[in-house]
Amino acid sequence: MAKDNFSTLGVRSGTARTEFNEHSEALFLTSSFVFENAAQAAARFTGGEGGFVYSRFTNPTVSMFQERLAALEGAEACVATASGMSAILATSMALLKAGDHVVCSNAVFGATVQLYSTILSRFGVETTFVSPTRVEEWQRAARPNTRLFFLETPSNPLGEVSDIAAIAAVAKKAGAVLVVDNAVCSPALQRPLEFGADLVIHSATKYLDGQGRVMGGAVLGSKALVMDGVFGFLRTAGPSLSPFNAWVILKGMETLEIRMLAQSERALELAQWLEKHPRVARVYYPGLASHPQHALAMRQQRTGGALVSFDVKGGKDAAWKVIDSTRLISITGNLGDVKTTITHPATTTHGRITPEARAAAGIGDGLIRVAVGLEAVEDLKADLAPGLT
Ligand SMILES: Cc1ncc(COP(=O)(O)O)c(C=O)c1O
Repeated sequence: MAKDNFSTLGVRSGTARTEFNEHSEALFLTSSFVFENAAQAAARFTGGEGGFVYSRFTNPTVSMFQERLAALEGAEACVATASGMSAILATSMALLKAGDHVVCSNAVFGATVQLYSTILSRFGVETTFVSPTRVEEWQRAARPNTRLFFLETPSNPLGEVSDIAAIAAVAKKAGAVLVVDNAVCSPALQRPLEFGADLVIHSATKYLDGQGRVMGGAVLGSKALVMDGVFGFLRTAGPSLSPFNAWVILKGMETLEIRMLAQSERALELAQWLEKHPRVARVYYPGLASHPQHALAMRQQRTGGALVSFDVKGGKDAAWKVIDSTRLISITGNLGDVKTTITHPATTTHGRITPEARAAAGIGDGLIRVAVGLEAVEDLKADLAPGLT
């Protein structure tokens, strides 16, 4: 990663000033754009002339968001979407057709599992779920009709780390496109394209916004995959990012790097404290030396990230006791906020998948996920301690 200029790109890239020379990026709340005459309208609609047409597929604030995120991920192209899930849907609809096969990590976000196993399956797309860490399973699962490999690293909520370069090599051999969901790390900590991924997906709702305000998503990669493929679906089908949300996230990206570093620092300290706690059976945090893929995580990522999960002894009742005893930490499903959040994955984010799929993904009843924010770590420990008795 080009660490030396990431900070500068975060605050300066993608800025396009209007004739008024505003310093802060402008918010263009307009559905459509006016043309000089009929000929210009025709040229803009057919793509013969560049310029803005209609905010379902072209808007200056959304363009600034796309350019800034592309600069941060080191991507040739970026297309913004209404949410992280619509980024995954748009990618799948653009790249897949009936009869195609997908190999997907079994440790991806619950809604991603649902999308592949219950929605896309109705359109003739078959998905095989495999371990995020055992590369040989990806190799074995690949078929002549496999078009797409999908993974999330580190996974949410268990922090399992996939070897992007190794899986990219398998994907290449299989003729499949490797898609990596980078929502948990953000480009401040990990840039999957540098390890051979073909596309990067974001839930911009998470760390890119960083303050839990708006929904957003993005798909990044080569011009050929993003502009010729995903953009076409978006333009026609319409799960587009609103200019207002783009503006909020664009400004959020200005503090992305310092937030990620500060939140990771607190997460590591909290994970170390939890690891020593007698009521905690296991801590899942890639930044801990005891994590099974710690060495790989430190090669791929700048820090362990801000997501810490742990198994509390005593199953669901004990986990709910910890959650219900908190007074400072917010009980909410989101992650990526500067306010620390706490979740019981088995009954919330992963509550809709079958118990068998949950067990296969290692989501136990005693599992708690803490998405660490910017509070003093002493206050976080003091908030968790009363429930851990
Ligand atoms: C890793 C990951 N990917 C994708 C999503 C979906 O994003 P969104 O909620 O913006 O649709 C989430 C949401 O929590 C997530 O955690």
